[in-house]
Amino acid sequence: MITESDCVAQDEQDPLADEAAKYYLPEGVLYFAGNSLGALPVAAQKRAVSIIRDEWGEKLVGGWNSAAWYSSPSRTGAKVARLIGADADEVTVTDSTSVNLFKSIIAAMRLNTQRKVCLTDREIFPSDFYIMQGIEELLGERFTLKAVQRDCILDEIGDDTGLLVLSHVDYRTGDVFDMQSITRRVQEAGGLVLWDLCHSAGILDISLNEAEADFAVGCGYKFLNGGPGAPSFVYVAKRHQESISQPLSGWMGHANPFAFDETYKSAPGIRKMLCGTPSIIAMGCFEAALDELLPVSMVAIRDKSTKLTRLFIELMKERCADFGFTLISSENDDIRGSQISYTHEQGYAIMQALIANNVIGDFRAPDCVRFGVSPVYLSYTDMWRAVDTIKTIMETETWRDFRGQKKEAVT
Ligand SMILES: Cc1ncc(COP(=O)(O)O)c(C=O)c1O
Repeated sequence: MITESDCVAQDEQDPLADEAAKYYLPEGVLYFAGNSLGALPVAAQKRAVSIIRDEWGEKLVGGWNSAAWYSSPSRTGAKVARLIGADADEVTVTDSTSVNLFKSIIAAMRLNTQRKVCLTDREIFPSDFYIMQGIEELLGERFTLKAVQRDCILDEIGDDTGLLVLSHVDYRTGDVFDMQSITRRVQEAGGLVLWDLCHSAGILDISLNEAEADFAVGCGYKFLNGGPGAPSFVYVAKRHQESISQPLSGWMGHANPFAFDETYKSAPGIRKMLCGTPSIIAMGCFEAALDELLPVSMVAIRDKSTKLTRLFIELMKERCADFGFTLISSENDDIRGSQISYTHEQGYAIMQALIANNVIGDFRAPDCVRFGVSPVYLSYTDMWRAVDTIKTIMETETWRDFRGQKKEAVT
């Protein structure tokens, strides 16, 4: 049996133990929703105040040059690139993930118009799917969306596959796809792959360059801690950059925005993925958050994440086996991302009871409770405390007080 002292002993050996001081969390809160919205880096708070007061306030419009706002998408992109194994000039930061998906999917499909099939996982994150449905409606016969069961995806790759769109980590179970082998398989069949890295950036030790990935997108607000609605990143492999064109041809992606030409001429390189004016305050928070993550090795982050999620699963087995939870995350360390998910028929009420008791995870319909684990601000002892709270809530049945509650807009 694992004891609380075992967890304390692991914390004493933890090379990342000092990282937590960089993040603000309310007193007593155990935060397990970093896979939805990462915690606030103290540096991001300072940066937001400074951008508003010292830059916007003092420099006014001059901030575009003197505070380097104009170059912030590429500067921030270069920082994201280091965390996802890409070159600095292969990533930029702009728009939301959904918008970047729209631009990237069309850009990828335009590379080979002979192939009309866009293949995807039927259970991919809904926004990805909605965007593909929207593109299908827009392009008509030029685009065929083929959504198949996760397990059958590899069998469906064929000589008509133009693009495979996959989320690297499944948002419900946290299962990780093998980026390298899938990318190779699609490319050998003459297609391209777009990876959604929302649940992998900043938490998995990935290398887009090693996997020879074609396209990728991901959000800034989960494990990258960039803040609510932080801008998203978009990656295009260098070998595709010259040939692609994306459909949202706004002025920030123009070769010379301030020439105010009558005709659109795209910027060279990754900058052509930009559309409109970047959101500078949000970008500043995101960049400050990245500056906190960059000195930490992704190998160390992945290592601690794996140990924490394994510990959580073991503690649940030992202490909460009788309460009707079904683990849907993999017990294989290589396949499990940084979240542990269970189904439970009373999932929503249980999660509400946990939140009321300062253990903040989230709920995904119809019955999934998720515990996202961010190793930069969670400890081994936190795993113990969280499972202890679950045990108490189930034993005392306090979750019953939360039954029948009207679901909030965001669960
Ligand atoms: C896997 C995945 N893809 C896409 C999105 C959508 O991102 P956005 O709201 O930034 O467009 C999310 C949001 O949570 C997500 O988890």
